[in-house]
Amino acid sequence: MPLPGQFVMELKFQNEIFDVVSSYVNLKRRGKNAIGLCPFHGEKTPSFYVYPESGSFYCFGCGAGGDVITFIEKIENFSYIESVHFLSNRAGMSIPDIDQDNGLMKVRERIFAANREAAKFFYKSLYQNEKALDYLKLRGISDNIIRRFGLGFAPISGFALADYLLKKGFSRDELIKANLVFANKSGVSDRFYNRIMFPIIDLRGNVIAFGGRTISDKVPKYLNTADTAVFKKSANLFALNLAKSAIKDSIILAEGYMDVIALHQFGFKTATATLGTALTIKQAKVISGCAKEVIICYDSDEAGQKATERAIPILKDEGLLVRVLTIPRGKDPDEFIRSFGQEGVFRFKQLINNSNNDMEYRLQKIRKLFDRDTVDGKIAYLKEAVKILCTLENNIEQEIYASRLSEEINIEKSSIMQQVKKGRNKLKKVSFNKKITDIQRNISATRDKINPEKSKFLRAASAEEALLSYMIHNPCEVENISKKLPPEEFCTDFNKRVYVNILQKIKKDPQINIGDFSEKFSSDEIGRITKFFISYISKNDMEKSVDEYINIITLEKNRVKIQESSSINSIEIENYFKILKSEKCGRN
Ligand code: UTP
Ligand code: MN
Repeated sequence: MPLPGQFVMELKFQNEIFDVVSSYVNLKRRGKNAIGLCPFHGEKTPSFYVYPESGSFYCFGCGAGGDVITFIEKIENFSYIESVHFLSNRAGMSIPDIDQDNGLMKVRERIFAANREAAKFFYKSLYQNEKALDYLKLRGISDNIIRRFGLGFAPISGFALADYLLKKGFSRDELIKANLVFANKSGVSDRFYNRIMFPIIDLRGNVIAFGGRTISDKVPKYLNTADTAVFKKSANLFALNLAKSAIKDSIILAEGYMDVIALHQFGFKTATATLGTALTIKQAKVISGCAKEVIICYDSDEAGQKATERAIPILKDEGLLVRVLTIPRGKDPDEFIRSFGQEGVFRFKQLINNSNNDMEYRLQKIRKLFDRDTVDGKIAYLKEAVKILCTLENNIEQEIYASRLSEEINIEKSSIMQQVKKGRNKLKKVSFNKKITDIQRNISATRDKINPEKSKFLRAASAEEALLSYMIHNPCEVENISKKLPPEEFCTDFNKRVYVNILQKIKKDPQINIGDFSEKFSSDEIGRITKFFISYISKNDMEKSVDEYINIITLEKNRVKIQESSSINSIEIENYFKILKSEKCGRN
């Protein structure tokens, strides 16, 4: 059942879009509107607009758009109803009693509850299993850490958790949705067994998932909860809930659960890790909400170094400073610290102090590749180094590194800078071209995922869009237009759906808001509709052409109808020509 319109209006009134967006995006006023860097795609020049008057936002770069509720849905990864909860909390309002029984909200709450119970169960089971406790002891993990991380053990039987949770009143379906169990012939069995369990907890304290390490030689070594309604592996980090309060400026990013645990145990309480995947943009965004600087300390093996190279630009694109800590002798942080006992703390602090910023780290790496005593080696090294310097946006930074490079290999700084400038221009050209093609793709109907028929009816689709936009801005004209243009005449299905929605709304209420579309349209579709809201065409310009647009649409539709009915005719015509031809041949 939808929420009452009155309530939604009040909710939006109490949560002014400018204020809400401001707490996520640095907005600058631009006349009546505001502009900033889009939080939904990486960009360096702002194309994200907020329109306080209509209570909407729109990004000209990625096409995201909507009202304040859509914004919260997208940025917090919430469902519609969760965003409503979030905003009503924010404004101190209470939500009218509505039937949410079969809603996603309910499912998510049950998954949270099941996970919470599962975590308690695993924790209790740990202290009932000597082998598991021995394993943790062997790895040097203290009781204190077991408590702080809520570590546990999934019993070997394979159905202990399922039994326990079913008795607690969770349904099979709920446990399957939580990915704690899977269905089999005899009912359900546990996803995790004979594993040390690491609860993954979000910033609000919900247990959203688990990681489990085998204590046998069973593969995989680590098993994670698959994505569920409350968990996206690519959007979460392990132990960020614990790290967050300790962070002043920098955060430590490690590869594995055990690394994070060792680091916390030895006092490095800002350590986190991704959950068995390469760092994602979403995770970098989450980090940038908590820290200014990231110290990457991945394993020192080749895989770890490759992962470091990949993570650097992702983090920098989110405006984070990056340092890279290199652990000597092929170890991971856990092995490194523990191999030194109490001295490990001091040793690791040293590594942090000696960690290079990302530039130095990358230069250091290529330095090893070339023999800089030979002329050829020098040139090859310089070429690679210049490539790295070219990635610097900041002129002063370019100058500093060029100076160092010039001293290092005894080449005029000015000639190095010349090379850097050249390279930068090339890069700019490439990125400019890429931007252009991106924009073209966005505009180009052939790539339009939201309205895939647009490519077939280019002119009609544009006319439809102009009309929709006009109607949204001039609701009093809707009835008039609807008399001239029945929905069936629309050429593209998406625009037709928007049109029908507008016609229905106007019967109930003389105004049209973005929120009116939230029930029947996906958030990507809402983005497109927002574009109709903001692409304002002045009444004078439009009135003259309303009929013209209607004409274009109906003409196009007629053309389609004729084509469809004539596809048989065209075969007949073809046959007719064939007959003619053969007759001619016959005569010859
Ligand atoms: P590693 O193989 O480096 O393990 O995987 P580790 O962290 O050193 O673990 P220990 O010390 O052997 O216990 C690093 C991370 O990659 C993910 C996990 O998140 C792990 O912490 N991983 C690894 C998986 O998801 N699945 C696997 O099978 C292995
Ligand atoms: Mn390890």
